[in-house]
Amino acid sequence: MPNTAAVHPSQSPGPRYRIPGTALWRFRRDPLTFLTDLARDYGDVAHFTLLGRDTFLLAHPEHIRRVLVEDAHRFVKGLGLQRMRRVLGQGLLTQEGPAHRRDRRQIQPDFDHRRMVGYAEIMWQEAVSLAESWRPGQVVEVAREMNRLTLLVVGKALFRTDLSAQAETIGQALDALIQVTEPLWLTFGPWLERTPLPSARRYRWARAVLEQVVQTLIQDHRQRGPAPDGGDVLDHLLAAMDAGQMDPRTVHDHTLVLLLAGHETTANALAWTWWLLAHHPEAEARLREEARNLEQDPPENAWKRVTRLTYTRMVLQEAMRLYPPAWVIGRSPLEDYLLDGHMLPAGSSVLMSQWVTHRDPRWYPEPERFLPERWSAEARSGRPKFAYFPFGGGPRVCIGAHFAQTEAVLALAAIGARWRLRPLVDRVQPQARVTLRPRGGMPMQVMALDR
Ligand code: HEM
Repeated sequence: MPNTAAVHPSQSPGPRYRIPGTALWRFRRDPLTFLTDLARDYGDVAHFTLLGRDTFLLAHPEHIRRVLVEDAHRFVKGLGLQRMRRVLGQGLLTQEGPAHRRDRRQIQPDFDHRRMVGYAEIMWQEAVSLAESWRPGQVVEVAREMNRLTLLVVGKALFRTDLSAQAETIGQALDALIQVTEPLWLTFGPWLERTPLPSARRYRWARAVLEQVVQTLIQDHRQRGPAPDGGDVLDHLLAAMDAGQMDPRTVHDHTLVLLLAGHETTANALAWTWWLLAHHPEAEARLREEARNLEQDPPENAWKRVTRLTYTRMVLQEAMRLYPPAWVIGRSPLEDYLLDGHMLPAGSSVLMSQWVTHRDPRWYPEPERFLPERWSAEARSGRPKFAYFPFGGGPRVCIGAHFAQTEAVLALAAIGARWRLRPLVDRVQPQARVTLRPRGGMPMQVMALDR
């Protein structure tokens, strides 16, 4: 795809609405359908105007690779994450430039292989203890249960802390904060948050809750001192602060980002996987068999378990293709950027949607079907790399990608070996906010298996 003469944004293909605000209205009402229609109707680079900005949807894996990897240095994060800075501060997710590179280097070792082996043990224990707390016939709200599980794992693995007492409040705070990504808040947030409106009061409450959680984590770590095994991620951040390499606010912001980004996405991946398994009994049976075989012949540690759960991993990959927890990634070019003849002006919005590209029939025949076999080595070999990017890519790729997959595979095996989950509603709509949540939750009944 060579770069040819630039096409001005207004000449790039895209909808030209007569009524101002139509794109915003459609995007707000149902972003998944809006973006899917755009790619279908206007091709791999579609242009529209959103909140007065030139906005582009890139659907082709090669274009996505160029923006996320090859020319990553020519872009900054998109408007959504820029605004999230008001909530998340300057943690890894929202930082830019040299500060991001320095802090990523600092935090990366806490996600390396040696650490993962230890985390896997915690992940397995927490999943087994959740599965053992359920009773036959019990009705569970799976999305909430998975959120609780993943929060407990992040608390114990990354912060040596049991967060069970705070889990419910943290979940409510997260719900309240997600509204800052609504178009009204994206535009008027700084003003809205100071008003006496109920939504603003909830916002202030949520921020205070999270501030308190993070402060308590920091104080506890100060009192306890680093763990004998070399300490956890917060010990390492505090050590960097004591050495004058990081300021206290940045330590706070990294902690908050790891706590939030480290659980909500994985929880959604798991909830959608249970939903798909409940509707695909053959895949469910195969996953169960794999999990049960492991329980009969247990490997010496949880990490070894992960390496043997190959079908379970394929199920997870396919679930994240169909229901990617991060459904869109935004970037903005620092200077005018030429992409295959399209000029993306400096400051414009560039969207790359996992939802759209993961359902493109060019890479996934019969894209709506749940087929874990798509993830065999052979089936994968013919697809472009960025036809699948649940964790992003390039220098800003998810730091927790390995952590999340290990955790999800272990949770599917621990729970799947013990229970079948039966849905209690016919349909669950995806709700695309910061993550792709099941709208209205996911009530399911816990069914006993014959052992
Ligand atoms: C299924 C689960 C997860 C999904 C789908 C997911 C997805 C993503 C995506 C797409 C990005 C890139 C955003 C961008 O480029 O703008 C990202 C970044 C990030 N994620 Fe995850 N994530 C998951 C789990 C986790 C976990 C478990 C953690 C931490 C324990 C985590 C921490 C982060 C952080 C800190 C970043 C920012 C990295 C940087 O910019 O250097 N995520 N995630």
